[in-house]
Amino acid sequence: MASNNRLIVGISGASGIVYGIRVLEALKAAGVETHLVMSKAAELTLAYETDVKVKDVKALASVVYNVSDIGAAISSGSFKTRGMIIAPCSIRTVSEIVSGVTSSLLSRSADVVLKERRRLVLLVRESPLHTGHLRTLTAASEMGAIISPPVPAFYSLPQTLADMIDHTVGRALDLFDIDAGLVKRWGEPGEKSKSGKRGGRARPRRRKS
Ligand SMILES: Cc1cc2nc3c(=O)[nH]c(=O)nc-3n(C[C@H](O)[C@H](O)[C@H](O)COP(=O)(O)O)c2cc1C
Repeated sequence: MASNNRLIVGISGASGIVYGIRVLEALKAAGVETHLVMSKAAELTLAYETDVKVKDVKALASVVYNVSDIGAAISSGSFKTRGMIIAPCSIRTVSEIVSGVTSSLLSRSADVVLKERRRLVLLVRESPLHTGHLRTLTAASEMGAIISPPVPAFYSLPQTLADMIDHTVGRALDLFDIDAGLVKRWGEPGEKSKSGKRGGRARPRRRKS
């Protein structure tokens, strides 16, 4: 597959492992070649937050790497990709990226994406944030990363948790110019998305008197 159709997917141990799973599902459906690296803590959150097995998550990716394999293809800038998304991204992982002390393949591959001036999108999840977190996120942004926290949008009138997750994942993939058909787009009335759902202008519900 062409190198410009490759995306690195990182999954770290923040809450919201479902975002990483949905990213992999959406990229598979969109025909994008995915290179997955998952932290040990992500395997723990997978067990806490879902009934899904690690092998089932890995089966969604085109290529899977061990997080300690610092000699893997994605550890080198000469291996061309469109960039990397980390979903969800823990404070620990973003801190490691910012420090440059990249002790795992997860942070090393993100560091490589930044040094090659490719796109790095971080779905950082933590709340509340102290000043140290905020400084770290500012530093990551200054280094070229896009901080895209998984914050739900309500203007699309989500009916289910899955709708909220899809919107967040779809907007994150928009940052790579990948339209996975997951987003109900504002100002595009009646357009049928690839997922089969109708888009359209969302309006706040009127209270019934
Ligand atoms: C159930 C669970 C939820 C967690 N949620 C978060 C979170 O939302 N954000 C965060 O930064 N860390 C969270 N953590 C802590 C991280 O997993 C921990 O800092 C870990 O060292 C991150 O390692 P990694 O970045 O290599 O995945 C959570 C841990 C567990 C077990």
